[in-house]
Amino acid sequence: MSGRLYLDGVSVVFDGFRALNNLSLIIEPGELRAIIGPNGAGKTTMMDIITGKTRPTAGVVQFDDHDLTRLDEAAIANLGIGRKFQKPTVFDALTVFENLELALKSPRDPWSCLRWVLGPDYQRRIEATLAEIGLAERAGDKAAILSHGQRQWLEIGMLLMQEPQLLLVDEPVAGMTDQETEHTAALLRRIAGQRSVVVVEHDLEFVRALGSKVTVLCEGSVLSEGSIDHVQNDPRVIEVYLGR
Ligand SMILES: Nc1ncnc2c1ncn2[C@@H]1O[C@H](COP(=O)(O)OP(=O)(O)OP(=O)(O)O)[C@@H](O)[C@H]1O
Ligand SMILES: [Mg+2]
Repeated sequence: MSGRLYLDGVSVVFDGFRALNNLSLIIEPGELRAIIGPNGAGKTTMMDIITGKTRPTAGVVQFDDHDLTRLDEAAIANLGIGRKFQKPTVFDALTVFENLELALKSPRDPWSCLRWVLGPDYQRRIEATLAEIGLAERAGDKAAILSHGQRQWLEIGMLLMQEPQLLLVDEPVAGMTDQETEHTAALLRRIAGQRSVVVVEHDLEFVRALGSKVTVLCEGSVLSEGSIDHVQNDPRVIEVYLGR
């Protein structure tokens, strides 16, 4: 499997303010990684750098042997790097199935329409995704009547239709019920493995449920890294983040 993300010495300076400061991080293919840290630590900026929305002031950002600092957002998406924003962009008037169908057709590259015409297996793929996101029973329902959590899963499903190799997810469980939060952790655990998944989240119960390696960002660089137990017991993490 390919899709190794490599950040080395990445800095981003906004008007003299260092949002990222010599950040180094490696995400292995198929890895699930949680990123935590105080407000303003640079978590979202890190995702902006990976997706080409923001350019680093210094440092290396590579996906396999692709230099992401030389590619625009569309080219980076074409490499198979998908991103989920907090606000879902599902179409209310369409059914769950139709939303996934639309995601399959919306081109990641100009040839995807052609593949769409040629590919007879789209129905099977949509069904597989419905099962993966736990919405098989809701396939015929309009997206408008889904709960907040279900809409978030549909959005993840729409990203999965594009077959990303790396999925970036920023604060997925904000506003979810406890049960939806648990379901989301299980979903992200399931979909990692076949692709890498990087999840930014403040909810530590959720991060624990992910069962993944955790990276703590602070002031734009890595403060601590390891299991949730390791970082929760790290005195530096307690001082700047958990102890507040
Ligand atoms: N485009 C920008 N221009 C200027 N400053 C920015 C820009 N984007 C982010 N910043 C600043 O960079 C710092 C890091 O912001 P970022 O959004 O990455 O933090 P975060 O870790 O995602 O925080 P939160 O947990 O609140 O989402 C903040 O101080 C923010 O104000
Ligand atoms: Mg953020």
